Amino acid sequence: MSKRIATIVGSLRRESNSRRIAAHLPALAPAGTEFHELAIGELPLYNGDLEELPAWKQLRDGVRAADGIVFITPEYNRSIPAGIKNAIDIASKPNGMNLWPGKPALVMAQSSGPLGGLAGSFALKQALAGAGALTMPHPEVYLSRVATLFDAEGKLVPDTQEFLRGVLAKFDDWVERNSPRRQP
Ligand SMILES: Cc1cc2nc3c(=O)[nH]c(=O)nc-3n(C[C@H](O)[C@H](O)[C@H](O)COP(=O)(O)O)c2cc1C
Repeated sequence: MSKRIATIVGSLRRESNSRRIAAHLPALAPAGTEFHELAIGELPLYNGDLEELPAWKQLRDGVRAADGIVFITPEYNRSIPAGIKNAIDIASKPNGMNLWPGKPALVMAQSSGPLGGLAGSFALKQALAGAGALTMPHPEVYLSRVATLFDAEGKLVPDTQEFLRGVLAKFDDWVERNSPRRQP
């Protein structure tokens, strides 16, 4: 049975490195993996008075339907971009309808600096743990000096492709073992 993996890209800008990495994932993942992006850029901020917004329903439907979720994100001010946190909050509500418990998740962090988005990754993992998601602990993904990881055509360099191929193979196992949607 094929796996439905949803991606959430933390950066909203057109030339985003996160988005360029996300675009490589289908070719690097095990056969039978389908990727669908859950767009977060136009989501209104979570507000408990507004439970029925169509944009929120769309996000919640996408999270519900996914066997696993891959986050590809930059670090912003030693944390995560606000749009990602907003998406996590929206899919955790209304009360009693939190979609995160037991949901397999993978965090890929990147930054222009030397630390590869370590602090942002930890902040994201903290929020996901609070919501109840099952984030794969290892291997961890910190892509530092991200601009150096692309060649002149915008393709990820071979070493990084191989690294991500291995990560996605491990995540495939993680989803297989943990996704409630895949249990008999
Ligand atoms: C608002 C903002 C805050 C940032 N804060 C950090 C930071 O705390 N640590 C870091 O390593 N890089 C930081 N950066 C740099 C980004 O992580 C880096 O440019 C990243 O590659 C941008 O991702 P993108 O290409 O997907 O937009 C920040 C960038 C922005 C726009």
